[in-house]
Amino acid sequence: TDKYCVIGNPIAHSKSPEIHPVYAAQTGQDLVYERCLAPLDGFEATVHRLVEEGYRGANVTLPFKIEAARVCTRLEERARAAGAVNTLVFAHGEIVGDNTDGPGLVADITRNAGVAIKGKRVLLLGAGGAARGALLPLIGQGPREIVIANRTVATAEALARDFSRHGVPIKASGFAQIDGSFDIIINATSSSIAGDLPPVAPTVFGPGALALDMMYGNQATVFMDFASRHGATVRDGLGMLVEQAAEAFAIWRGVRPETGDVMKKMRP
Ligand code: ATR
Repeated sequence: TDKYCVIGNPIAHSKSPEIHPVYAAQTGQDLVYERCLAPLDGFEATVHRLVEEGYRGANVTLPFKIEAARVCTRLEERARAAGAVNTLVFAHGEIVGDNTDGPGLVADITRNAGVAIKGKRVLLLGAGGAARGALLPLIGQGPREIVIANRTVATAEALARDFSRHGVPIKASGFAQIDGSFDIIINATSSSIAGDLPPVAPTVFGPGALALDMMYGNQATVFMDFASRHGATVRDGLGMLVEQAAEAFAIWRGVRPETGDVMKKMRP
């Protein structure tokens, strides 16, 4: 039986240990998936202990995703671009870091919501770690343009610069100056945690727009309520969570699980 876990602090709330066993059963893979609480000053030591104990890989959650990139002996391109790691593979004496958060977001939009990103105008709210992780996978879908809007405009400008060489026009903006309307609007700020709304004009929601908040909980976020009042179709971050787990599972096991069962289980 191969061992995996999710490392974080705190870790009790993590849903990953509910997701991976369903994928394992569905694909006939023999594995266990546990929670692992790492001390705030002991992430690296925890990773090395897991390697010694024969674990085959791990997911990484808050607050260790950036530190995890430094612990790796090799980084996949999308982890390097994200500046963060959510998936570790322990093999052949190496610690390989990958990031499936962005691919999970893209899979949720394109497969679960059934909305193509190609040729669309995309608005990304926020310029922190979550936004950075989303950019390369979004760019890979060939949108017409991406506008990054953030409370601190300089951070959005730096992010736009970092990702400008991939052939997709990327603009930076403050919330109040966002130009025009969009097909896909993604809230990658952490404002929903505090019950805050990024102060964007309702005109950002174009006809038939999809609005996605990376956060999820028992009820709709303030951003989802706002978007929905202005005609957008809304999603929370649960689909992204389930899809990033499927992407990690596929990296470890070479088979991508079907995510519908887990979505139903998490939100019956
Ligand atoms: P994460 O890893 O979740 O992206 P982060 O790197 O700390 O966390 O980034 C948080 C993001 O949410 C930033 O874009 C931040 O804006 P600033 O760069 O201006 O700080 C944004 N954010 C946090 N609280 C917010 C709020 N109440 N309103 C609007 N934006 C907020």
